[in-house]
Amino acid sequence: MSAKKAKPAILLVDDEPNVLQGLRRSMRTLRDDWDMSWVEGGAEAIAAIRSHHFDAVVSDMRMPGRDGAAVLEAAAQANPGGYRVILSGFSDRGAIGAVEETAHRYIAKPCSGEDLVAYLRMALALRGGLPTARIRDLIGKAPDVFGMVRPAVRQDECLALAQSASFNLDRPIEDHREAVELLRPLVLRALCHLTALTKGDVTDEAGEERYLRSVVMRALVLGGAARRICLHHGFWPEDVERATAAALLCHVGTAVLRSAGEVRYQASLDMISECGDSVLAAERRVFGATHVDIGVYLSIAWGFPDEITALIAGHHAPRQVPGVDIRPMAAVHLAQFARMPDRPEWHDLNFGEGMPFHGACVEAVPDRDFLEFAGF
Ligand SMILES: [Fe+2]
Repeated sequence: MSAKKAKPAILLVDDEPNVLQGLRRSMRTLRDDWDMSWVEGGAEAIAAIRSHHFDAVVSDMRMPGRDGAAVLEAAAQANPGGYRVILSGFSDRGAIGAVEETAHRYIAKPCSGEDLVAYLRMALALRGGLPTARIRDLIGKAPDVFGMVRPAVRQDECLALAQSASFNLDRPIEDHREAVELLRPLVLRALCHLTALTKGDVTDEAGEERYLRSVVMRALVLGGAARRICLHHGFWPEDVERATAAALLCHVGTAVLRSAGEVRYQASLDMISECGDSVLAAERRVFGATHVDIGVYLSIAWGFPDEITALIAGHHAPRQVPGVDIRPMAAVHLAQFARMPDRPEWHDLNFGEGMPFHGACVEAVPDRDFLEFAGF
């Protein structure tokens, strides 16, 4: 007889009993699926978080004593891979900056139970299939830059990365303010994490290749390609931002795998060419986790919104992620095949104007039906 799978544990926090009661009523039918706890204050919530494991924490922002920011900070420390939602009233807008890097989602109050349930379902599905113990083990073998929620990098270093030829911006950026305007906050956050990776760089066994830097350069190519595709297709700025940030981050998992052992990484490459394995199958066989799994885990741990994590999850197989935004997903997927001189069979894909040739190796296969469905 197979062991019964544990129910996801969810903590809901609000100092207003009426709000908790309303949510409780609308979530009553989920009692068999989720193990839900309800508490009426920040201090009580933090004590619960420190003594129990929660897969998701949903907290009101404004509470007397310990507020929502303190609750989510405690949740992030106790379980970096958990899901964190902040409920905020209109007057809390100014305080939202305090949870920018710990909340995966903000929901405006009054909040409908149906919306909250839909977000929780999607988030738990994204996290549910991850080989978390393996991923933690692999990240533990890599430089500690991967563990940083807020990487210690200077703004001018992030800007230097944004201006590198690989990212292919159409105009130079003068300062941080202009960068926020042009690239938006999530793209800048992704660039900061990539900058931190280049700082943790080490050479390979032959002492030649600085491989974290090479993974970062490839990330910039993908991010720049996704951005150009979105702009060509006239996407809304939010979608350009999400697709660019996701394309920048979708191979941070490769950097972890390479850090975990150059010999084993080479073995996974050999399996691709000798056994005809896909890159994901080869990584799973050699490492027990794929670069997609690790990218999803790190995106969650670094506090990126679920929309970004879903795009990372689907960058090879866009149809396997339910509920993903189709158009930015198509842009991230397509960016991987952008105008490679040695792959003429992909040159007919709809990249738009101004896409330069680049020769980075590709590990996926284009899902032409999905791209067509997305209007590409
Ligand atoms: Fe990939």
